[in-house]
Amino acid sequence: MVFREKLEDAENLYDFSIVYLLPGRAPVEPRHVDLSTRFSRSISLNIPIASSPMDTVTGYEMAVAMALLGGIGVIHRNMPREEQVSIAKRVKEHPLFPLRRIYVEKDYPCSTSLEIMASSNTRVLPVVEGTSVQGYVWAWRLREICREGFEPTLLAVEKTGPRYSIQSYRDAIREVLRGAYDAVAITASDSIYVGTLLVQDILSEYNPAVSPDGSLVVAAAVSPYDIDRAILLDKYVDVLVGDIAHFHSTPAIEAARELVKEVSSDFVAGNIGTYQAVVDIASSLEKLDGLRVGIAGGSICTTADVGGVYAPTLWAVASTRDAVEEQGLDIPIIADGGIKSSGDAVKALAAGASTVMLGYLLAGTDEALGELIVVGSKMYKPYRGMASKTALAKRYAVDRYSRVSKRVAEGIEGLVEYRGSVYYRLREFIEGIKAGLGYAGARSIKELWEKGRCGIAHRQTLDGVLTFNNK
Ligand code: XMP
Repeated sequence: MVFREKLEDAENLYDFSIVYLLPGRAPVEPRHVDLSTRFSRSISLNIPIASSPMDTVTGYEMAVAMALLGGIGVIHRNMPREEQVSIAKRVKEHPLFPLRRIYVEKDYPCSTSLEIMASSNTRVLPVVEGTSVQGYVWAWRLREICREGFEPTLLAVEKTGPRYSIQSYRDAIREVLRGAYDAVAITASDSIYVGTLLVQDILSEYNPAVSPDGSLVVAAAVSPYDIDRAILLDKYVDVLVGDIAHFHSTPAIEAARELVKEVSSDFVAGNIGTYQAVVDIASSLEKLDGLRVGIAGGSICTTADVGGVYAPTLWAVASTRDAVEEQGLDIPIIADGGIKSSGDAVKALAAGASTVMLGYLLAGTDEALGELIVVGSKMYKPYRGMASKTALAKRYAVDRYSRVSKRVAEGIEGLVEYRGSVYYRLREFIEGIKAGLGYAGARSIKELWEKGRCGIAHRQTLDGVLTFNNK
């Protein structure tokens, strides 16, 4: 063996920072670009975006929002099995419209209730006390009471008014569309308030990703070693997503071989980073419906420092896509880790991905898990790697079936800037992806695979320019 050759034959590991797409002739305007895609063999999405299964990113609210926007949420697994199953079940019960936590409380001053109504553009809102719906208040009635100098909202509460559970949400929609109430409260099967259905949300354009049974799509993260969790989740989720750092390992593949025999949902293996991983996994598993690709490329990853190993997402996607094509496998690839902008997402799609998975970009939104933190005049949300010290400690504490395979942390934790609602943020992001496809001369993701051509550039970023000017 000539050790020097290891270095001389070293591959170029291309990542997002140096690869760009070249412009091509656009066949259509960006707004007519079609972003529909597949997340796994049988699950289709309307946008190529999935939220990462991290305990500062995807719980109930993120999973619902992602599916309503046409993507998919992968529920994290840093919790007891029963809790993960219950979240998946609740996502499946959710209507195909957003339910917003907009209501008034009976001890609010009338003026506060009127302000909430004005900002949510409604004439009527439910009154919620704790978790139960007390009735409704109308703006005209509140105004009368305010004028008479009385407080609080309590005096205007109408005890009658629509009562709908999540199972009867279609009737709730009909009620709202009839025009009598422009906001109605929706409760879970145990009468607990879950949100308010607003007329503007019914009328605005949502193109949710739905399963064949008409419910919102949802996925859940599993370890290949946790067959019992996979079996419990299998009844409720569309896709089980492999959630270990290095799936290309003999014990993991052997465990997954047993797991896939027990489930009927799609199974995505991950994470992997090389051509050979696809060959080895595909030849060992009876069922393989997708690949989650990228090793050590995530914003909170320290694997490249801890272990010196790196399969950057862009390079890993192109390598695994080649394997998928050459092996004749009809399965999509999820590009996971290091996507910091819609431009990175376009590059990943051009390299052969069907979907991109986001952690960092979603962590600062309202729908991400984790409390808002105010520091001075700025607002933040927590974000941590799932292999960070505290995330691992939580896993071992809450899941008695969890397995300790390594005794070193491979992630960091910190705060990310608060970014408002994911409904707003993702719409912006999707427009960016459409613009990118337009520039690259493609009207769909499949066309981008064929037409997207790459260039290498060490571009001066705006940061550099600003620093220079500030000197
Ligand atoms: P972004 O860049 O979107 O990446 O924040 C999210 C992805 O990073 C992976 N992940 C980790 N990788 N140590 C790692 O090496 C960790 O602690 C860790 N936590 C998450 C994961 O693939 C996720 O989707």
